Amino acid sequence: MIQINREKCVGCLKCMKVCPFTVLGAKAGRPYLKEGKVCLKCMHCAAACPKEAISFDGRDAVLLRDMPELPERFPEALEQHIQTRRSYRHFEDQPVDRNTLRNALEVASWAPSAKNQHPAKWIVIDSKDVIQDMMECILEYVKKTGNSPEIASEYENEGNNVVIGTAPTLILCYGRNNAINSPQDVAIAMATAELILQARGVGTCWAGYLTRLCNAIPKLRELLPNLPENNSFYGAFMAGYPKEETYLRIPERLKRADIQWV
Ligand SMILES: Cc1cc2nc3c(=O)[nH]c(=O)nc-3n(C[C@H](O)[C@H](O)[C@H](O)COP(=O)(O)O)c2cc1C
Ligand code: SF4
Ligand code: SF4
Repeated sequence: MIQINREKCVGCLKCMKVCPFTVLGAKAGRPYLKEGKVCLKCMHCAAACPKEAISFDGRDAVLLRDMPELPERFPEALEQHIQTRRSYRHFEDQPVDRNTLRNALEVASWAPSAKNQHPAKWIVIDSKDVIQDMMECILEYVKKTGNSPEIASEYENEGNNVVIGTAPTLILCYGRNNAINSPQDVAIAMATAELILQARGVGTCWAGYLTRLCNAIPKLRELLPNLPENNSFYGAFMAGYPKEETYLRIPERLKRADIQWV
């Protein structure tokens, strides 16, 4: 719960103005927590407080470092990074460094999420044996059911794995089915993580087949840690260090922003 230190507070009410759900009110020029209001635990109030007067459950509600200054020409650099991001499917044998992954997934916790619920949780697989077993389950399943027959035909006739490429690392993202918006929250967390990973030289590709198949194949699920009840996979990445996959130009996008202004 948000706590306001009366001795530090100077009554500027900046906290109250940024609270998204009017959880904070003002009495005699000082902020207070209204009863019966649901706090999102977004810490906006603390982040806007000039006197570090707001804490949460007895701990700091903000990171204890100065607000970082973005480098000059950051908008241009960010746009370039977004346009040079690609979906990589050909990788070196070596799994992605776990610290690089941990850092990217940690920073992705700062992505927005509906009502600040942050339902996205991760499973990272970098065991060659487990990845091979997963692929065997997938091939067995698609052949038996006739679903997505191109998975087996590409694999067997062309040597092309459309599910995981040659990825030495797989990143699965799951969430609660009863969160307000797990599909979008997971997608946003993943999109954020992908930009960080690619900035650090890790190639990634969204793995839509893998996401669906992880939910559909019980035998495949047995190879993974148990998901809590009423959780599902909402996204997955193949990941690794790109091999013989270098892009010299930004590909054209035939479908550009289609906007109606009203
Ligand atoms: C899918 C989604 C839906 C959201 N809907 C609303 C909304 O309707 N109203 C609102 O004020 N904020 C909305 N938010 C913003 C979240 O409340 C916000 O991301 C969260 O409190 C964390 O704050 P931050 O984005 O400043 O880190 C939404 C965020 C997401 C990702
Ligand atoms: S944490 Fe967010 S919702 Fe809660 S009081 Fe502060 S600003 Fe309002
Ligand atoms: S922003 Fe900080 S100093 Fe200003 S009223 Fe809120 S708690 Fe007090």
